[in-house]
Amino acid sequence: MSWLSASLVLAFLFQQSWSDKSFEHLFSEDVSNISFPDNFIWGYASAAYQVEGGWDADGKSESIWDYDAHNHPDWFPEGQNGDVACDAYHKTDVDIDLLVYQGVKAYRFSISWPRVLPTGLVDNINEAGIAYYKDLITKLRANNIEPIVTMHHWDHPRILEEQGGFLNESLIVPAFVDYATLLWERFGDDVKWWTTFNEPKQTCGGGYDYGGISPQVRLSGVGGYICGHNVLKAHAKAYRVYDQKFRATQNGKVSMVIDTSWHEPASDSAEDIEASERQNLFHYGWFADPIVFGDYPEVMRQRVDERSRLQNLPASRLPYFTDEEKEELKGSYDYLAINMYTTDLAKWKDDDPIGDPSMSDDVSVTTYQPDDWEKTVTDWFKVVPWGARHLVRWIANRYGDGKGIIVTENGYHDNGNNLEDLDTRGRYHKLYLSNLNDAMYKDGVNLIGYIAWSLMNDVEWYAGWLVNLGHYHVDFYSPERTRTPKQSSVYYKKVVTTNCLVDVCEPAPRK
Ligand code: BGC
Repeated sequence: MSWLSASLVLAFLFQQSWSDKSFEHLFSEDVSNISFPDNFIWGYASAAYQVEGGWDADGKSESIWDYDAHNHPDWFPEGQNGDVACDAYHKTDVDIDLLVYQGVKAYRFSISWPRVLPTGLVDNINEAGIAYYKDLITKLRANNIEPIVTMHHWDHPRILEEQGGFLNESLIVPAFVDYATLLWERFGDDVKWWTTFNEPKQTCGGGYDYGGISPQVRLSGVGGYICGHNVLKAHAKAYRVYDQKFRATQNGKVSMVIDTSWHEPASDSAEDIEASERQNLFHYGWFADPIVFGDYPEVMRQRVDERSRLQNLPASRLPYFTDEEKEELKGSYDYLAINMYTTDLAKWKDDDPIGDPSMSDDVSVTTYQPDDWEKTVTDWFKVVPWGARHLVRWIANRYGDGKGIIVTENGYHDNGNNLEDLDTRGRYHKLYLSNLNDAMYKDGVNLIGYIAWSLMNDVEWYAGWLVNLGHYHVDFYSPERTRTPKQSSVYYKKVVTTNCLVDVCEPAPRK
């Protein structure tokens, strides 16, 4: 450990005042008392734009989010953007101390593409950016914390966006493959867990179809599918480069992080069950089917083709893969990754009338969350722990879980300021984990890891720091960006260091 930081001292003093008694009321709920396995991967996750700051430090260029922050400041709450964020770019030692103190085995973070490649292309490598990540990775490994590295967490270089970004196949696919290759060349000896893209459903749906996240290109019912197609091609080509050039010597694992809510049938009717399946396939299956089976889910293909035909379009809005591309895609993953937060009910409805193209009309399913489900500060996000079990079970059944499933994000939204969050955020993790534990031991799902979002409050994109999920509070108004522990950090530390959600656990059954 480095020189003791103020944040670490705070964490230590705060956590000393706790004993197992402090959790007793948490244990009284009906929660699994079976240990997670010793080799279970416990971690924390973050993303470059949300924590790093240093937006133009040492040669970094603007990402699409920097561009929005500087050109559309009104899209963010007053000054709450990623220019400085948690200043993680200058606080590697502080954050590593906290990760070590928390006892996690893994840290999932993303690399800022414009920090290492300011032009987006490998003709101009920013060695200062490379050095920042090298230092982070080296220090994580020195502390036995496994780096899990995301190559793209929504923040590609603005300069690539000016040329069409993820809608421009001939630009973005080779640019991403070169970028991935560079990361393997420079970091692949020390990083064994990789994800190419974080949540392409958001990058493409929010970024290029219905708006909501940068770059907010609104090409309803068209842009999302084109972007998704290019993301999948870039992923598959990069994965095959890893196979050919790096796997034998580096022996790492590569996948894509896909997000979805769970969509539970609103009733036992055959229609609602079909609606739920369709909704899950248009969300998780959009990306998971291609990387596992080599092509889009049949229901997506058939519905988008048919609706495009009825719209008198000359071709389907959902592009086709060539046979060669299908081969490249098929099996292009070494583990399955899921970001999950909440659950909706899915109800059958008659097909939406044919009108202007829209991805949600293509699915034509009604989704909702009943009013009496437990609320958070965010509209779409209610606390539904059992949904976690149903979701991983569905993933294991459809895709197989032989390579292992990791929950790469899960966490609780509030205003970020409440340090006494044991009964909200702490309880959220406990109940979700209990359901995941049931999925493992009662349903036989091969879940191998759980990465909480997030170690500390950060820039929650356009919500600034009005919404947050951290186990540590960050004082965004102090130059130190002091991290202060919340009660949830104490409970999570207890869980990850004992593999147990309650006071005493039964051993994990042998496989
Ligand atoms: C994203 C994170 C975000 C989190 C919490 C996920 O969709 O990957 O960047 O902070 O949700 O809302």
